[in-house]
This record gives sequence, structure tokens and C-alpha cells, in this order.
Amino acid sequence: MSRPVISATGLYTPPHSISNAELVTSLNSWTDNWNAEHADEIAAGKLEAKQHSSVEFIEKASGIKSRFVVEKSGVIDPKVMRPYIPERPNEQISVLAEIAVSAAREAMAKAGREGREIDAVICAASNMQRAYPAMAVEVQAAIGAEGFAFDMNVACSSATFGIQTAADFVRAGHAKTVLMVNPEICSGHLNFTDRDSHFIFGDVATAVLIEAEDVAPRGSWSILGTHLKTQFSNNIRNNFGFLNRADPSGVGARDKLFVQEGRKVFKEVVPMVSAMIQSEMDRLGIRPSDLKRMWLHQANAGMNRLIAERVLGHEASENESPTVLDTYANTSSAGSIIAFHKHSGDFRPGEKGVICSFGAGYSAGTVFVEKAA
Ligand code: COA
Repeated sequence: MSRPVISATGLYTPPHSISNAELVTSLNSWTDNWNAEHADEIAAGKLEAKQHSSVEFIEKASGIKSRFVVEKSGVIDPKVMRPYIPERPNEQISVLAEIAVSAAREAMAKAGREGREIDAVICAASNMQRAYPAMAVEVQAAIGAEGFAFDMNVACSSATFGIQTAADFVRAGHAKTVLMVNPEICSGHLNFTDRDSHFIFGDVATAVLIEAEDVAPRGSWSILGTHLKTQFSNNIRNNFGFLNRADPSGVGARDKLFVQEGRKVFKEVVPMVSAMIQSEMDRLGIRPSDLKRMWLHQANAGMNRLIAERVLGHEASENESPTVLDTYANTSSAGSIIAFHKHSGDFRPGEKGVICSFGAGYSAGTVFVEKAA
């Protein structure tokens, strides 16, 4: 049986960044217009006036300061409040595949891999651009890979579920080299007119190469163990689908974009994820002092503080639990992979860390890794 390792990662960061101040200015302007348009109903008590957002609230409640997006002008235009991403003809690569390929190329270059050496492609993300053909098959064609490819969606936990799936293919001998990509255009599923959530997400793509140890380059990451968990919850939902093709700006459209009960998520997910990491550490015989770093899902700075503290037994330093949320915001499945990609270069052989995701479903996944010689 081949032992799976992570041999390289890649990152695509979109060219545009939106600060909290820019986002709040557009939401507040949209809100003033909405309140003016509905002044009579508000005065008659039929509608509630909408409230302004604030930079202070966003930073304090979430730790987010800015986010990257593939298209900025529509998002910050109070008359539009959504990214302007024109549909492309079928002959042109789709936006999701394009950013996935960009991240993939970095990972492939680092591992010295050509497309034809890749046996399988998994596109694991929260929001696929279309039903079919699979994004993964488009990525496979773009990089010139053979073998097979498919999409999978486990919301914010898609990447860890993708890593375990790829590792299982390697163990079973179905593939030697698997490319797992996480293109996340979260600005497309976000309601930028909703004060409770307009600040939460950003766009990005990440890529992870999972390979059999015997073909991987030196200095890869041994996968010590993976563990996945799901538990049904309505607290994070997006009801958009092919059975409800209503105009997304129309009545009843609110739940066809991201909606959540943020407080409940915070309360329920922190204990679930801390306990999951701890029980996996017990299973693998890893003590808190053996862990150099936790690359946690990037949804909320407060959640990460609490989870890391429960696991490590002390308040985690930035070095022990790095943050990318401040500049990237929540990038769904890609968050923990961005943290791993940007904050793993200092590891020496034998040092251990954990990649951990959590989100809608609920879903959570852990991938314990050790830097190899
Ligand atoms: N600007 C100013 N005030 C705002 C605001 C905004 N943009 N949005 C909400 N508020 C107000 C609320 O109206 C509320 O006011 P009230 O106390 O008078 O009722 C107050 O701020 C607190 O709102 P609440 O929604 O309870 O905030 P919170 O402290 O729970 O923070 C989240 C909100 C979403 C940042 C936080 O709950 C969170 O991150 N939860 C986890 C989310 C998560 O991980 N989701 C996974 C997605 S994959």
C-alpha cells in the first residue's frame, strides 16, 4: 500500500481587494436608498428601516479587515451590490476553472509535475459554477492530465474531505498523483445588501498535490491521519439550486444566497471541532506540545482563538495558529489551505501540524501532517 503525502500547494489571489470601509460605504448608501424608497411603509410601521453597517463591528465581531475579489466594481456600487462577472462562451475556460488552474500551476511547478503525470483531479468547493460538465474535468483538460476527475462539495470542509479522498485513492492504488483544487468565488454567493453577513467572504483558489510517497519530491508532508465528521444543521444554508431558478434579486431570494445563524454556529461548532481535534490527537498519539502549528479554517478570529486554546491548553500565539482571515476574509474551503500554504515554510523534518476545516453541514475535517526529510 502506498503512503500518501502532501507534496505541494498553490494559491491564486484575485487582483482586487475591498476594505471594510469601502464595503460599509456601499452598504450604507444602498441602505439609505432603500429606506428612502420605502419611507411610507416604514412610517406606517409596515416595514422596518434597515440599519447601517460599521467597520468597528466587522473588525471586532470577525477579525476581518479586507477581502480579495475577482470583480470589485459591482460589489461596491450601491446600485448593483454583486460582482459583475459576465457569462463566458463555452469555448472559453470558465472563471472557476481558470483560477483553479492558476493555483494548480503553482503547486505543480513546486513539485516538478507536468499535467500528464497527474492521475486524478478533484475540484472540492462550496459553490460550483454550473452543474456539469464537472469543473474538475475542465481543469483536467486545461492542465493536460489524464485519468479521471470529479467535483465534490462539502461547503467549508471541502478541502479536507478532498485531501482524505485523494489520500484514499493513493492508498488503494487508484492514483499516484492527485490534484485537489478549491476555487472559491464566495462573492457570488454573498448577499452584499445583508448587514449581518455582507463582510464575511472573499474569493481565492488553492491547490494541493497529494501523491504516493515513492514518487513525491523530498521535503513533502507525511499525512499522519485524517478524520471527517458531519452533523446536520440548518444554521448555515444556501438553498440555491436547479429546482428554484427564481430571479436571484426577486422576492423569496434571500435564502438562495448564503444565510446563517452566526451566533449559533459559533456556539455549536467550537466545542464540536475542539473535541474532534483532541480525539484524533489521542488516536494518533500526538500531545499538544507535539503540535507546532494549527492551520484552522478561517471564518472568525474568536472561534479560532477558542478552538486553539482548548486544544493547546494555553492561548495560542500567531505562530501556533496563524491568521489569514484579516486580509482574505472567509474563503470557505480554501481558508485552512491558504494558512498552510503561507505559514509552513519554516517547518523542519519531524515537526507536526494540523489542517482543520469546519462549516456548513455541519462538516469538519482534520489532516495531521509531519514534515518529512
Ligand atoms: N454592523 C453593525 N452592527 C451589526 C452588523 C454590522 N454589519 N451586523 C450585525 N450587527 C449588530 C446586530 O444587529 C446585533 O445588534 P443587537 O445586539 O442590537 O441585536 C449585534 O450587532 C450583534 O449581532 P450578531 O449577529 O449577534 O453578531 P455576532 O457577535 O454573533 O457576530 C458573526 C456575527 C457572523 C461575525 C459571528 O457570529 C460569527 O462569525 N459566527 C460564526 C460564523 C461562521 O463561522 N460561519 C461559518 C460560515 S462558513
